Amino acid sequence: LWLVLGIRRRQPGEPPVENGLIPYLGCALQFGANPLEFLRSRQRKYGHIFTCKIAGDYVHFLCDPFSYHSVIRQGRHLDWKKFHFAASVKAFGHDSMDPSDGYTTENLHQTFMKTLQGEALPSLIETMMENLQTVMLQSDTLKVSSSNWEVDGIFAFCYKVMFESGYLTLFGKELSNGDKVQAHRDAQKALVLNALENFKEFDKIFPALVAGLPIHVFKSGHSARENLAKTLLHENLSKRENMSDLISLRMLLNDTLSTFNDIGKARTHVALLWASQANTLPATFWALLYMIRSPDAMRAATQEVKRVLESSDQKADPMNPHLVMSREQLDNLPVLESIIKEAMRLSSASLNVRVAKEDFLLHLDNKESYHIRKDDVIALYPQMLHFDPEIYEDPLTYKYDRYLDEDGQEKTSFYRDGRKLRYYYMPFGSGVTKCPGRFFAVHEIKQFLALLLCYFDMELLDSDVKTPPLDQSRAGLGILQPTYDVDFKYRLKSQF
Ligand code: HEM
Repeated sequence: LWLVLGIRRRQPGEPPVENGLIPYLGCALQFGANPLEFLRSRQRKYGHIFTCKIAGDYVHFLCDPFSYHSVIRQGRHLDWKKFHFAASVKAFGHDSMDPSDGYTTENLHQTFMKTLQGEALPSLIETMMENLQTVMLQSDTLKVSSSNWEVDGIFAFCYKVMFESGYLTLFGKELSNGDKVQAHRDAQKALVLNALENFKEFDKIFPALVAGLPIHVFKSGHSARENLAKTLLHENLSKRENMSDLISLRMLLNDTLSTFNDIGKARTHVALLWASQANTLPATFWALLYMIRSPDAMRAATQEVKRVLESSDQKADPMNPHLVMSREQLDNLPVLESIIKEAMRLSSASLNVRVAKEDFLLHLDNKESYHIRKDDVIALYPQMLHFDPEIYEDPLTYKYDRYLDEDGQEKTSFYRDGRKLRYYYMPFGSGVTKCPGRFFAVHEIKQFLALLLCYFDMELLDSDVKTPPLDQSRAGLGILQPTYDVDFKYRLKSQF
């Protein structure tokens, strides 16, 4: 009977198992409604490892942060990529990028490391800094003046400025073919605005696609994805200049190492557009919202940015906006770093997932071992650490300086049960699948906040406004969005 119902019985040496009440779905609905509450209640009942049936899979949740390292260390039994490759195919509709499926021989991991980190980083940062200042001050994206306050939603504002700047940084700008300058600018602007609208529409259905629903069910989301893909066809991309190394190398490898057709190649670029924006946009929102709400954070960040400009002899001039910050300068902004980290601690809800390649024995930190069956899933849900009151006092309170030590430098010592934690902050995932864009992501958010502080006065419309709740429908996918926007006003600073 157990077999017929597809229900697993716990075998000796296996973690406690919960099959849920609904065949196939198992605990999926309860988990999906509020993952943190669900996992905490099971942790109270079963301890730091337990198994839940979720949508046909058996998922072992590991809740002890000291055992995270064991999972990462026993990586040879675990497939880190299978899940990612499959999710990407479902959401973006390209052929599999897993070399073992035979459509490409590209090693994506290497492509990402080569083009998003190390020597590739300074030029990405430099281009982003120029684009941010152009978008903020020299295009029609924002209405700016020094005499009038302009009102906007903080999320809407972050979306506009970061999407356009990030899009141009990755995909470059259209070559001018002798058109009139203004006409060329207008066309460029229309293209990015269209991309933004399509991105928003597609992003709405992203959780459903990852959950396995076919894209045909969603008319407007489907056409939004295809519209994005059309603008990213190689024939269109090749008319652009100043493209990032990431996209130009990916184009080359699509053309030389894969059997993808034209639209398939374009869809791989949609995947990167999504990866580069979907988490960055809400992370930027939370960082800006929390910074504006905290007068101490604003004061400390403003001083820090002032110090950098003075030390490099620069002055913020909105009529001639060409501030420069090197990678070293950006790396040396501990206050902004802490402001951003704390905002991400409170809003990140990513699920780290690996699939067992074979039956094996998982050794945990406390010397216990558990039998894991082939094809079972092992999952870490770092929000459990981020909201653990033993690690972070008053975990629901935003403290801008939580990641600063007594000397005002980055704080890296966090404890649980008197033991120092190796893993206490994981919005970017872990192990080999850890976000390859994380350095660029933090730098671009720092640049955005620093430039706002240089060029704008900013105030909340309602200074007592509550922080909006997190939209849980995206739990497991990364940084959560707010359920509603918060209004603020801004105007050009008369002097910095
Ligand atoms: C993957 C978070 C920004 C590129 C990921 C993963 C997470 C993540 C959690 C999955 C890691 C795992 O499963 O272990 C974030 C957050 C960001 C951000 C929180 C911003 C605040 C960016 C940016 C880029 C980027 C700006 C590129 C420009 C990627 C890529 C992957 C990825 C290419 C897939 C890596 C792979 O499968 O090998 N990111 N990310 N991310 N991210 Fe980011």
